[in-house]
Amino acid sequence: MYQLKSLFIFLAAILAGVGVLAQSDTEKDVASRVDSLMNRMTLEEKIGQLNQLTGDGEVTGPVTLNQDYQQQIREGMVGSMLNVNGAEYTRKIQRIAVEESRLGIPLIFGYDVIHGYKTIFPVPLGESASWDLEAIEKAARIAAEEATAAGQHWTFAPMMDISRDARWGRVMEGAGEDPYYGSKVARARIRGFQGEDFSKDNTMLACAKHYVAYGAPRGGRDYNTVDMSMRRLHETYLPPFKAAVDEGVATFMSSFNELNGVPLTGSRELVRGLVKDQWGFDGFIVSDWGSIQEMIPHGVAADKYEAGDLAMNAGIDMDMEGKVYQQELKNLLEDGRITDVHINEAVRRILTKKFELGLFEDPYKYCDQEREERELLSDDNRAFARESARKSMVLLKNGDVLPLSKDLEDIALIGPLVQADDEYIGTWSARGEGRHVINVMEGFRNKLGDETNLSYAQGASFTGQSKEGFAEALETARQADAVVAVVGESAMMSGEALSRMDIGLPGVQKELVMELTKLDKPLVVILMNGRPLAIPEVDKKAPAILEAWLPGTEGGNAIADVVFGDYNPSGKLTASFPYSVGQVPVQYEHKNTGRPKVEDQRYTSKYIDGPNKPLYPFGYGLSYTTFEYAEPRLSQKEIGFDETLEVSVKVQNTGELAGEEVVQLYVRDMVGSVTRPVKELKGFEKIRLEAGQEKEVVFELEAEDLAFYTKDMEYKAEPGYFKVFTGSSSEDVQEGEFTLKR
Ligand code: BGC
Repeated sequence: MYQLKSLFIFLAAILAGVGVLAQSDTEKDVASRVDSLMNRMTLEEKIGQLNQLTGDGEVTGPVTLNQDYQQQIREGMVGSMLNVNGAEYTRKIQRIAVEESRLGIPLIFGYDVIHGYKTIFPVPLGESASWDLEAIEKAARIAAEEATAAGQHWTFAPMMDISRDARWGRVMEGAGEDPYYGSKVARARIRGFQGEDFSKDNTMLACAKHYVAYGAPRGGRDYNTVDMSMRRLHETYLPPFKAAVDEGVATFMSSFNELNGVPLTGSRELVRGLVKDQWGFDGFIVSDWGSIQEMIPHGVAADKYEAGDLAMNAGIDMDMEGKVYQQELKNLLEDGRITDVHINEAVRRILTKKFELGLFEDPYKYCDQEREERELLSDDNRAFARESARKSMVLLKNGDVLPLSKDLEDIALIGPLVQADDEYIGTWSARGEGRHVINVMEGFRNKLGDETNLSYAQGASFTGQSKEGFAEALETARQADAVVAVVGESAMMSGEALSRMDIGLPGVQKELVMELTKLDKPLVVILMNGRPLAIPEVDKKAPAILEAWLPGTEGGNAIADVVFGDYNPSGKLTASFPYSVGQVPVQYEHKNTGRPKVEDQRYTSKYIDGPNKPLYPFGYGLSYTTFEYAEPRLSQKEIGFDETLEVSVKVQNTGELAGEEVVQLYVRDMVGSVTRPVKELKGFEKIRLEAGQEKEVVFELEAEDLAFYTKDMEYKAEPGYFKVFTGSSSEDVQEGEFTLKR
């Protein structure tokens, strides 16, 4: 089959007068193959490689006259398409590029494969709560296997924007608030998507996005202005991107936002200077959707000509759905505003990836309908989606209610999310479909069979103010032995352009839950949402709360596994849940201030109407068993710059069930040339303990782990006194101390 295909392509290439394949047989390495291809390209064809157009899939911004995109591909004016899907369709479009354009250069197809392609995993924020890097990598691997079977070469993922603002809708797409953990997750996801070898037919290019600081918009409003110190940028927002380069990520995407007055898409300093020159990133950088011409409304370019100038000089290689490069690069070159060195560099970077993907050997190798039929939504993939969803769940509260007994006769399922299939897969759910979702009603039925009576009342809609459904819901609940309320956000309440001012339970859902708490029945509140929610009243009154996020295709089965005790929850939050939106931005890694909070002392740093601390902190999550921590033991009281400190902590499962625990390590530099946070995560390990079992976890710390940007913006550790903390969350810790010697 493969040989036939190659022969066909070979002949097609000869017929088209190309010789690309003959060339690939004779050229030894990618670089020289790229060079020799470039020698035969016209300026227009080179500019074409920098142009990415959208097909007819998901449209997230203005579309610029794309009806003629097939003709443009024929004319060599397009290097990449996004939102073109399926083995059959991508083959059709690829054929135009390969057989009908002068040089037959294959297209790269890109798509937002964010948390699965057809089999949908929990939203990334939820997935990150598993603290299970292998599972996170595997979910990305499965997503890549499915997407590549359906013609995709490139995913616009992972999103690695750190965010401490739950109002921002896109917190859902990231790994939470912490740069250390966020970097680990980014690397795991990149490994999963890219695998080890691009020349395979099931690996795809990953994309480090959105570069950078997109997760810190003022007011939490998407696309809004970002203004922050360079120290904050370097310490918090850049690390995942640097980690992505170290992991060998193939592409970057520049973000929509400005940072300190400069839109990232035009930031020569941060894009070309830092990513390409300083970090040595050798892949290519795509703009975000239309972000080149958005420099006009940003107010740093008068027109597309100036915007193109800024972007090309900044080092943006590919223009996503903007057509600015297509329209303006030639003029800019003629006017000497940009040089052919810039254009050639961008073309070279893009072609290199096409060669690495093996597209010149077989441009259709990702368009395999048989594989598509076989692999998408396979039983194995679904099974892992279930595994991934239950690993992501965080038990926020449990007053002896969970797990529920499978012998209950009557369970009432209440709330707008009980059987709202479409919502379970969240936004950015690629080709996922609600009709493939197992909802909570179905998951419970699968688990319990026909023995148990499952009754249902919606009670409330997502955002409506009507309480008309309360009476029925309460009556249904009254008849039951236990009540499970499934409440939260609809899919369209988190994700791009879905920021919220109020991050409580929307509509009258909180009131519904409050009414249910008055019934004096075993009540479990299951939350589905794409962001941290502020739910102090629910926390106060509801006996048990399970955070299930937007759990994906197998959500209902996974929830049933946890609710009925077939899986002992082990997730921990990666983003703090505030008491109130008024605390936002909120994170565990804060500074002490000169007047740290002292209860009842007026002139200290605090609110007069609520706590400083979040409701549920970073790293927090309960289990059906209990874990007891011993104090941390340090191998030395002092370490030198070239020594390693071992911090050991014994953890025992003191409950009656086997369970998993995420053991966490934090440090604090007590005195620095600049102020340092009260805690910074520096290590974690997820362990499994049988009932009664004890394990010792050993962390290693070196001077490099203690480094930060000093007063002179040098990245290094400073000698002095440190505290080290180990425990089960960022708040529940025990401490030790050591000195880093000069
Ligand atoms: C988003 C990106 C996404 C792109 C393509 C943009 O609106 O910001 O994250 O990859 O659209 O769909």
